[in-house]
Amino acid sequence: MKLLEGKTAIITGASRGIGRGIAQLFAQHGANVAFTYSSSVEAANQLETELNTLGIKAKGYKSNAASFTEAQQLADAVLEEFGSIDVLVNNAGITKDNLLMRLSEADFDTVIEVNLKSVFNMTKAVQRTMLKQRKGSIINMSSVVGVKGNAGQTNYAASKAGIIGFSKSVALELGSRNIRSNVIAPGFIETEMTDKLDAEIVKGWRQAIPLKRGGTPEDIANACVFLASDMSAYITGQTLNVDGGMLT
Ligand SMILES: NC(=O)c1ccc[n+]([C@@H]2O[C@H](COP(=O)([O-])OP(=O)(O)OC[C@H]3O[C@@H](n4cnc5c(N)ncnc54)[C@H](OP(=O)(O)O)[C@@H]3O)[C@@H](O)[C@H]2O)c1
Repeated sequence: MKLLEGKTAIITGASRGIGRGIAQLFAQHGANVAFTYSSSVEAANQLETELNTLGIKAKGYKSNAASFTEAQQLADAVLEEFGSIDVLVNNAGITKDNLLMRLSEADFDTVIEVNLKSVFNMTKAVQRTMLKQRKGSIINMSSVVGVKGNAGQTNYAASKAGIIGFSKSVALELGSRNIRSNVIAPGFIETEMTDKLDAEIVKGWRQAIPLKRGGTPEDIANACVFLASDMSAYITGQTLNVDGGMLT
């Protein structure tokens, strides 16, 4: 059963990792997909070609999610090209980990701008279109770290916790217009972002997860399909932990 037939989705940061998995599954479910990336031109071109073979319309845009102006330009371009914006997945994110003692002001600011301000930028950019359509689903990618905190990630945890507060507020503001806003908090999902971690630490994490494995981009993408589709029509303002039981 195709759950997203006829819907147009913007997915930020889809050249690799979780975003790529979401773009692939959305396309398999019949969605038209506009996705962004920061610098991975080749990977983005490959994904665009792959998605278009599925019989939907797909296009990759090089767009810095941290830039308010670029977010506006992106939303305008997508509306012109695709005709509607039904789903927004704010997935783009980065880490710049360090203990607070060593964390620079620049690394704090950059993580907040790319991870949190981007969510403001993109939500503002699609708001008018979704209000006119009187429907929309916004899905924001937080993290278990935003729910629980993590030593060495004050900047990242603050950005991801901020997303939860922002998202709940949008749910309250825009609910009367049938615009929903939910958060996914992934646990340990094995992507390039986590490839940077020490192998022994990763082994320990897998053992500590009740389901005894790291998650896959597809695990997160499945939750996104649900929240993007009309199957979740009565769900807004929620944070869904997709973490193999990590926070339980
Ligand atoms: N992996 C995990 O375990 C995990 C856990 C919890 C939450 N998350 C969250 O899930 C999201 C995706 O994580 P991931 O592991 O898939 O990351 P990833 O493999 O590092 O991929 C990040 C994606 O974001 C894009 N991006 C980075 N900065 C950008 C910017 N300024 N503007 C637009 N796009 C930008 C990258 O584009 P380029 O390829 O061009 O650089 C790439 O497509 C992030 O928000 C992350 O915080 C991940």
